[in-house]
Amino acid sequence: MKVLVTAGPTHEPIDPVRFIGNRSSGKMGYALARSALRRGHEVVLVSGPVALARPENAVLVQVKTAEEMLEAVRQHIEWCDALIMAAAVADWRPRCIKAEKIKKRDASMLLRLEPAPDILRTIAPRKGGRIFVGFAAETRNLKEEAVKKMESKQLNLVVANDVGEPGSGFESDTNRVTLISSDGRTDELPLMTKDEVAERIVKWIEERRK
Ligand code: CTP
Repeated sequence: MKVLVTAGPTHEPIDPVRFIGNRSSGKMGYALARSALRRGHEVVLVSGPVALARPENAVLVQVKTAEEMLEAVRQHIEWCDALIMAAAVADWRPRCIKAEKIKKRDASMLLRLEPAPDILRTIAPRKGGRIFVGFAAETRNLKEEAVKKMESKQLNLVVANDVGEPGSGFESDTNRVTLISSDGRTDELPLMTKDEVAERIVKWIEERRK
């Protein structure tokens, strides 16, 4: 199988020294890439800025912004059989990027933002027979929000993740997730390492493609 994985945050520049980002470490996406490779699949890993070792044998495409991540996904979508969107893509970006460093002259500053591209929504018309897996990182109404995302983003599987819970979500090495599939099946997994969660997700995709 050919698996396209996105991982990490995106950084949306404000000026040459600052950006808007989020707390994603990229660990879940990298664990997914390693797991798919271990299980004999081909992997293209589109990664935002992270401090993690490059998985051996993966084609690594390094990006910074949501726009660049979208472009990399566009370039590989026809190639892949499954897209796993583990990246925590920025929802907003500065409307204009200053060419020079903004100086600290005023007591307050107004930063005007615009929506960053939604990668899954943009790519959905090119889904075809591919499997799309997305993540829903939430702090409340986890399952309801996850199901909404599954429907609006044409996902076959949504990995619902309560990021407010200790030992779960951003930066941690463990995660407690619920797998919700578009056929209505729900699988509440116990607290596991991200490698174990990744294995379950890759196995789910393999089963689905049989
Ligand atoms: N995603 C994406 N493009 C974005 C934002 C998110 O493709 N600009 C993907 C993520 O990689 C994830 C899924 O969509 O797999 C859900 O991401 P999330 O940030 O939880 O959803 P949003 O649609 O941004 O909704 P909200 O932030 O309002 O909860």
